[in-house]
Amino acid sequence: MIWRRFLPALLLLSAPLSAPHPAPPSANLSPEERADALIAQMTLDEKIQLLHGALRDYNPGPLGTAGYIPGIPRLGIPDLHFADGSLGVGNQVGPATVLPSCIASAATWDLELAYDYGWVIGRQSRAYGVNVNLGGNVNLANREPRCGRTFEMKGEDPLLAGRITAAHVRAIQDQGVIGCLKHFALNDQETGRFTADVRISERGARQSDLLAFEIALRESGAQSVMCAYNLVNGVYACENSWLLNTVLKGEWGFRGLVMSDWYAARSSVKAALAGLDQEQPGGYMFGGERDRSLKSAVQEGLLPEERLNDMVRRVLRAMIAVGLLDSGGAHPPLDLARSEAIAQRVAEEGTVLLVNQGLLPLDARSLCSIAVIGGNADRGVLTGGGSAQVTPTGGPALWFPAPCPPCWGGIVWAPSSPLRAIRAMAPQADVQYDSGADIRSAAALARRADVAIVFAAEWESEGMDLPSLGLSGIQDALIQAVIDANPRTVVVLQSGGAQLMPWSAGAEPTLASRPRKFGPVMPWADGAAAVLAAWYPGQRGAEAIASILFGAVNPSGKLPLTIPLRIEDLPRTAIDAPPAPDSSDPFPVRYDEGHWVGYRWFDAHGLEPLFPFGFGLSYTTFEFSGLRLEWLDTHPGTRRLAVSFNLWNTGPREGAEVAQVYLSLPPETGEPPKRLAGWARVNLKAGGRRRVEVILDEADASHPFSVWSDAARRWVTPAGQYRIWVGNSSGRSGLKLSSAFRLEAP
Ligand code: BGC
Repeated sequence: MIWRRFLPALLLLSAPLSAPHPAPPSANLSPEERADALIAQMTLDEKIQLLHGALRDYNPGPLGTAGYIPGIPRLGIPDLHFADGSLGVGNQVGPATVLPSCIASAATWDLELAYDYGWVIGRQSRAYGVNVNLGGNVNLANREPRCGRTFEMKGEDPLLAGRITAAHVRAIQDQGVIGCLKHFALNDQETGRFTADVRISERGARQSDLLAFEIALRESGAQSVMCAYNLVNGVYACENSWLLNTVLKGEWGFRGLVMSDWYAARSSVKAALAGLDQEQPGGYMFGGERDRSLKSAVQEGLLPEERLNDMVRRVLRAMIAVGLLDSGGAHPPLDLARSEAIAQRVAEEGTVLLVNQGLLPLDARSLCSIAVIGGNADRGVLTGGGSAQVTPTGGPALWFPAPCPPCWGGIVWAPSSPLRAIRAMAPQADVQYDSGADIRSAAALARRADVAIVFAAEWESEGMDLPSLGLSGIQDALIQAVIDANPRTVVVLQSGGAQLMPWSAGAEPTLASRPRKFGPVMPWADGAAAVLAAWYPGQRGAEAIASILFGAVNPSGKLPLTIPLRIEDLPRTAIDAPPAPDSSDPFPVRYDEGHWVGYRWFDAHGLEPLFPFGFGLSYTTFEFSGLRLEWLDTHPGTRRLAVSFNLWNTGPREGAEVAQVYLSLPPETGEPPKRLAGWARVNLKAGGRRRVEVILDEADASHPFSVWSDAARRWVTPAGQYRIWVGNSSGRSGLKLSSAFRLEAP
């Protein structure tokens, strides 16, 4: 049973799990010096013990975790307990707060709130005795929009994804838990995930997925990186010396440990020489079952002792850096009240209002009847599947077996009922629910109501990719029938990522910029009075959705990914798949689009999306004016450009705007038309104004003014004409201000 571990885990909350440590070595030493002092006292067997997990298969570790390494009590080195936790503590370690999906956290564009999000994960990990978190999925969403793990990702832009992930990981580590960035690298699809051989140019990789890792690493100080299952340009990621030794440890100066994804290590000595430090979850190769053991490799001189010590030093360094050798294993309580308040705020700020034909916010006092339809909205909200799945506190509201063999954990609805939350917001209205299983009965209920709210839910999971981006089953037909019966219909989408909506081809291109009339027209995206993208909204998701519907919260979420009009507009219309489903041979996956992912692809090809990256409506209006560019430092290598402008809330309510700064590079660089260079999330009272400043720093990990030169094998800042754009989405109508400047060669 999914909640089988609730009681034992709760009983463990206040009990220290490991024996008290001997006095730690002097705290004045650097983490490396402390690690070296310990290494000097370790036997070869003790060293090797830290370099592989102790689990023999997917049986959970002592705490129900995904991984476990016993400590070395005589040296004060505690046990390591590894648990997933992209959006809450996973692996059924125990009931935990289900946060909104990571893509919802990215849709807030709120770095402080992203830090709070990480705080929940770090705090609750500590509560359960978990001291290594396996969240931190910073692969780019929308490289493959059908990817079943999109809900764990942070959007399609390296800067947004890198910064949001960094905030999560920083908070996790501040709680004394080792943070992780994964899956290094280019692990962007689940189809053939163990054998997919990603083919991509160096520039393409450096300016997309690798850039997201680089930013996340520099801004978080993550102490661990998980190498991926897939191959990158012909070499398995966990044996890829270019990725691990050259880029990660060499160029980026990473001093923590590289662990393998679960069963991703295919060799011992080869992988260790390529930069892998720790194999998970067992000692399959290190134990010598399929390959030479590390011990004999060291004894025979095949693996230099310095490298072995380096591997151990990296593990110990990570432990020391977050305080694991000093904390004595104290377990704070879960702090559910604060965690749930954070979950609700993330859902409130991350829900994106895509369409509003004036129906929202609903006025509870003027509504006599409300029809709530579909999506199991009487019970709960949908959550994503796979290793990132979280067992909600209070138990799942609903649970169904997973429909696909490689998926696990089942389909879980978190206990946050939209029906109940809507009733609480409109206590005097008659609020009725119809499951939507019978379209005619749902339409009849909608027809009798003043307003209909229809919930759509699209599940995704690790281990699978979506066959399409449309809603599955009868959901489109249900939404259409409800709109036909009652044009005053709000559609609430729960999905892992971009969701296609049927729209009328041939009409003015994009829904985001098109003035429309709502009502019974085919297809439904044209007829809905309002559409909300709620992602997987987490354990307080229903309360957040209801607060937005009734105006207690003014929506401020912005899309962290492009929503296309049609599948044909994507770089690839079908996912590259292995020639035979059970083939164990690598097969090519061609990422010919390179770094032209998401809006970069759409912009470059003049394709109008359904909704552009960065887009999201509010119940108030904002105006931008007075753009000014000022150089704070002009010395090549440290050039800093201050982009400032006025932001004015011109509407009737308080609200937050995400002011986005994009940059166009000189046309000769052959770059996509623009890139996100920074943003500011600003809250303003009705009528309030503020001068906003966003600084573009040449020394920043995002390399704002640069392109990767394959020839020079480094970032270069081209001389020429650049252009700044400021606005509230990447779409043409979202770009409000613009100004050009010249950069000279350094
Ligand atoms: C996933 C990782 C996860 C690990 C441990 C693997 O299947 O790819 O993301 O951390 O399992 O659960």
